[in-house]
Amino acid sequence: MTDPDIHIHELGIDSADDVIDSVAALLRELDGEAEDAGALDRERVLAAWRSRAATVFALAARGPDDSVIGVATVVESFAIYANGHYGVINELVVAPAWRSKGVGRALLQAIYTLGGRRKWSRIDVTAPSSGSERARKFYERDGFTFAGPKLKKYLS
Ligand SMILES: CC(C)(COP(=O)(O)OP(=O)(O)OC[C@H]1O[C@@H](n2cnc3c(N)ncnc32)[C@H](O)[C@@H]1OP(=O)(O)O)[C@@H](O)C(=O)NCCC(=O)NCCS
Repeated sequence: MTDPDIHIHELGIDSADDVIDSVAALLRELDGEAEDAGALDRERVLAAWRSRAATVFALAARGPDDSVIGVATVVESFAIYANGHYGVINELVVAPAWRSKGVGRALLQAIYTLGGRRKWSRIDVTAPSSGSERARKFYERDGFTFAGPKLKKYLS
């Protein structure tokens, strides 16, 4: 049961600093992704977000005092196997003091609502390599099924 004082809403590019700060904190916490955190380039992120504003979505959870206690970024993608447009959760983080209180689940619910509005056929997410068992359990509890590992290659 989520605290009724917790509110989820969409954030526009004007709130990008809040989103970037929350995600940077997450990356610092997840050891395995530390190399990505080290490479964070705020100006580059902002420029990319601005150029794709129609298909980049950020959601924030705010606590009783209106501070940001959780954040999610989701992008709209396309694939034939997905019958067209689908959503990809790229970041989802809840402040440590607020975990296990239903905030993550409330963010997922807001993402499903967004997906319904955008007519996405499905939502994909990659669990982080560190702490992945708990994160995987969190998603599986909400109906996500395992879809294989993810690979990456950096472009210089
Ligand atoms: C995974 C995460 C978003 C879940 O948010 P949340 O608000 O704690 O989620 P809920 O309260 O709705 O559900 C809690 C469940 O999530 C799971 N969970 C996963 N990681 C967890 C963590 N680090 N702390 C607490 N619960 C976690 C547990 O199964 C937990 O169930 P429990 O409370 O019965 O133990 C949050 O724990 C988090 O920010 N973790 C670090 C970042 C991360 O791994 N993000 C996901 C990858 S994109």
